Amino acid sequence: MSIAITGANGQLGSLIIKELLQQISADQIIACVRHPEKAQAYHEQGIEVRYCDYDQPESLITAFAGASKLLLISSSDKDDTVRLRQHAHVLEAAKKVNVEHLLFTSFAFLEKGLISPSHLYLATEHAIHTTRIPYTILRNALYTDFVGVLGLEAAIASGQLPILPGVWKFNTVTRGDLALGIAAVLTGNGHENRTYELTASRPWTFDDLVLVLSELNGKPITLVEDSQLQNWIYGFLGKIDTSSTSLDLERLIGGPVTSLKVSIQQLMSSNVGGII
Ligand SMILES: NC(=O)c1ccc[n+]([C@@H]2O[C@H](COP(=O)([O-])OP(=O)(O)OC[C@H]3O[C@@H](n4cnc5c(N)ncnc54)[C@H](OP(=O)(O)O)[C@@H]3O)[C@@H](O)[C@H]2O)c1
Repeated sequence: MSIAITGANGQLGSLIIKELLQQISADQIIACVRHPEKAQAYHEQGIEVRYCDYDQPESLITAFAGASKLLLISSSDKDDTVRLRQHAHVLEAAKKVNVEHLLFTSFAFLEKGLISPSHLYLATEHAIHTTRIPYTILRNALYTDFVGVLGLEAAIASGQLPILPGVWKFNTVTRGDLALGIAAVLTGNGHENRTYELTASRPWTFDDLVLVLSELNGKPITLVEDSQLQNWIYGFLGKIDTSSTSLDLERLIGGPVTSLKVSIQQLMSSNVGGII
């Protein structure tokens, strides 16, 4: 078995490879990257690094050759029409080199989404069916680190977290938990032609968030509803399904996902640039 992973230099791709190395040997992994010069650490671990640019279809054929499984990590291009074409290039290449199992990182509970990326992910899922390659759709929840745009640092300083009024519930998870679940699918059996909703099993709320912030900072932080609040994130959150939950991820990782408190603690300790 050899597993090719696109976006291998990215945050999720790196974490998946780290998990895979706990379970399979380095020579079973092919790291497909746009910038091989940034993948020295993979070389040093004995992982084969191959050049892969979604915009260069010929590079994909070479990158995926001989791989039995291919994980397409969705493109990070800002233009969803471009992403659709890039994903199609990957699917065409997967067909040409006879990949046996195609896996794709999609987005959780897509059907209720009203934003352009929801259409892109759904379109890619449909396109995967046209390949007739056995597939697994890994519908990732919103990453918990979205909280970085809520102004947590200011909330810690002032003791108040302003939010837009509404009923907000979050099924988010960490990239680390997603990587664990995805690595379990890549190395396990019986996942062909399945779609997994990789979310938390129980949603958290802004009340939970301020409780955690208060505990972690040793001072009370309260919620303040502000109907005039200007923050683009609420427009985004209001157009995706962040409240539906599933047990799929916990089944795959064999236990509970990382708690909100630990997730926020990890974010705060890695917050070198002050995004929180
Ligand atoms: N669930 C969520 O909340 C959420 C949030 C944001 C994004 N996403 C999606 O999830 C994906 C993975 O997340 P992440 O955190 O790992 O993102 P990331 O760190 O930005 O990684 C994205 C990877 O895609 C690669 N890539 C971009 N354009 C490419 C191209 N033309 N050809 C080949 N590779 C290309 C990048 O290559 P380089 O290393 O060369 O730049 C990078 O390695 C993102 O790409 C995005 O589609 C999900």
